[in-house]
Amino acid sequence: MVTVKTAQEIELMRKANLIVRDTLNLLEEKIKPGMTTRQLDKIAHDYITKCNAVPSFLGYEGYPASICVSIDEEVVHGIPSSERYIEEGQIVSVDIGSIYKGYNGDAARTFMIGNVSEEKRRLVEVTKQSFFEGVKILKEGVRLGDLGHAIQSYAESYGFSVVRALVGHGIGTDMHEDPEVPNYGRPGHGLRLKANMTIAVEPMINAGTFDVVMLDDGWTVVTADGKPSAHYENTIAITEDGVDILSL
Ligand code: MF3
Ligand code: CO
Repeated sequence: MVTVKTAQEIELMRKANLIVRDTLNLLEEKIKPGMTTRQLDKIAHDYITKCNAVPSFLGYEGYPASICVSIDEEVVHGIPSSERYIEEGQIVSVDIGSIYKGYNGDAARTFMIGNVSEEKRRLVEVTKQSFFEGVKILKEGVRLGDLGHAIQSYAESYGFSVVRALVGHGIGTDMHEDPEVPNYGRPGHGLRLKANMTIAVEPMINAGTFDVVMLDDGWTVVTADGKPSAHYENTIAITEDGVDILSL
């Protein structure tokens, strides 16, 4: 069921999302070659908790950490590990969720570690911009196929591909609510958005094929061809004349 939120609910979601945003900014400041992804998880967990919020990923369907850290060919849901080191030249996607007074925030960024290849840099920039190309057409009445098409056509114009197996989602008292929000689509198709719907828009863009594979840990999703992937996500509220990005 797709719900619309009250103004009061949206303000609680903004708080949850600003905690997520600030946690991402803190990690961007701290992330350095030689750190482990588990250290990043601890910094995030401590910060979210200090803000009187709950790290929503921890224990979600058995997920064992507070954030997801997905490096290079890892698309999403990489599990932090004390044996996985950050290295110069990597692109590191960090996805974070928090619950504040019962309402969810969810956002992701991809960080470039030192000097990265030209291909990786372009992939990270195009992934972020594909989010903005998508949301700039949004307002009440626009359809999800229009959003997906805007993201997809921008990413593909750079020769990149849009992951199909994973999509964005409605968000509110649950991290994952209806509707599904694909990053691909056909103009004029799909659900028509209403003001005060809240959704997480999260393009996952691959340098090569859009096909992905799940690793044996049951969580980490990697590109099928081993080429890099980037992720960028914000939680947004639809308004009468545009969007309100809650996690920026
Ligand atoms: N934040 C992810 C999303 O954008 C979901 C994380 S899955 C979890 O939908 F298990 F880590 F929580
Ligand atoms: Co999400």
